[in-house]
Amino acid sequence: MVLTDPKIQSEDRSLDLTLRPQVWAEYIGQEAVKKNLKILIQAAQERGEPIEHLLFYGPAGLGKTTLAHLIAKELRTQMKVTSGPAIERVGDLASILTNLSAGDILFIDEAHRLNKLIEEILYPALESRSLDIVIGKGPSARTIQLDLPPFTLVAATTRIALLSSPLRSRFSGGTFRLDFYSEEEIKKIIERSAKILGIEIDNGAIEEIAKRSRFTPRVANRLLKRARDFAQVEKAALLNKDFAVRALELLEIDLAGLENTDRMILETIISKFGGGPVGLSTLAAATSEEKETIEEVYEPYLMQLGFIERTPRGRVATRRAYEHLGRPRPAESSFLA
Ligand code: ADE
Repeated sequence: MVLTDPKIQSEDRSLDLTLRPQVWAEYIGQEAVKKNLKILIQAAQERGEPIEHLLFYGPAGLGKTTLAHLIAKELRTQMKVTSGPAIERVGDLASILTNLSAGDILFIDEAHRLNKLIEEILYPALESRSLDIVIGKGPSARTIQLDLPPFTLVAATTRIALLSSPLRSRFSGGTFRLDFYSEEEIKKIIERSAKILGIEIDNGAIEEIAKRSRFTPRVANRLLKRARDFAQVEKAALLNKDFAVRALELLEIDLAGLENTDRMILETIISKFGGGPVGLSTLAAATSEEKETIEEVYEPYLMQLGFIERTPRGRVATRRAYEHLGRPRPAESSFLA
C-alpha cells in the first residue's frame, strides 16, 4: 500500500501504473540486482527483521521505483514515497519519519537533491533510529531525541556522484546500479505492455519500437502508446511495422532512438565547437538546455551509444556521432575514439 501525506508525493505517474510489474516474475531484466534483492529479502524475513537501507542508481526510467514497490509488496509492508526536493525543511523530514510504522519502507527519489541539513538529520535516523531535533535558538536551544520505529530507507538517484560520501555509506543493505536493458528484454517488455493494453501488435512493430526506445522501459512504453494512437487513427486493427515506423518518424525519433534535442546537442558540439572538447556550461549555454538536463537526461544515452565522450577538458563527439549524423569526418587523428 502507498500512503500520502503533505510531503509524501502522489505516485510517479510517468510510468503508467497499469504497466508497472506487480510481482517479481513480471519484472524483466536487471537479473543480478533482482537475485541480490531476493536473497536480502528472504534472509531478513527469516530473521524477522526489516531489510537494511538500499540505494538504487542509474539513468531515469529503468525501474528504480518499480523495484522499491516490488520489495514493499514482497515484504507485505507499507511504502511511503517522497523525493529529495520535496523535503525542504527539517520539519518535513521529522513529520515523515515520525509517521512511519515498524517495518515501513520510506522511498526517497532524487536523493541527490536532499539538502545538507536534511542529510544531517537522516544520519542518526538511519543508524540508530533516533531523530535529533533542535528546538529554539541561542542559549535556550535544546535538543530533543525521538525514537523511530525500525524502518528501511530505499533511495534512488540518477546521479550517485552527487551523493555525499557519509550518506552513501549509510546504505548498509547495498548500493545497486541499474543498467540499460538489452534489446531482447525491451522487446519482452513491449510485448507484455501491449497485452495489458489490449494492443494487437506484430513482431516487426515490437522490434522497431524496441530499437528506438533508448533501451529504457519507460520510453518503450511511451512509444508503444504513441504508435497505438497512430494505428488507431488510421483505423488499423493491427499495429504493424509500417505504422510503428510512421509513428516514430512523426515523433522525429531516429533509428538510434535519438530525439531532436539529442541530435541538436551533437550538432552543436560538431558545428560550433569543432567536435569538442567543450565544457558542460558552454554546451548548456549554446544549446539553451540546463546543465543538469544534459547530464541526467541526454548524456547517459549518448554515452551508452558511444556518440559522446566525457574527457577532463569537456565533451567530445566521437566518430560514430559524425557517422550517425552523416557529417564528413575530420582528420582521423583528432578522434579519441
Ligand atoms: N515496465 C517497466 N519496467 C519493467 C520491467 N523491468 N519489466 C517489465 N515491465 C516493466
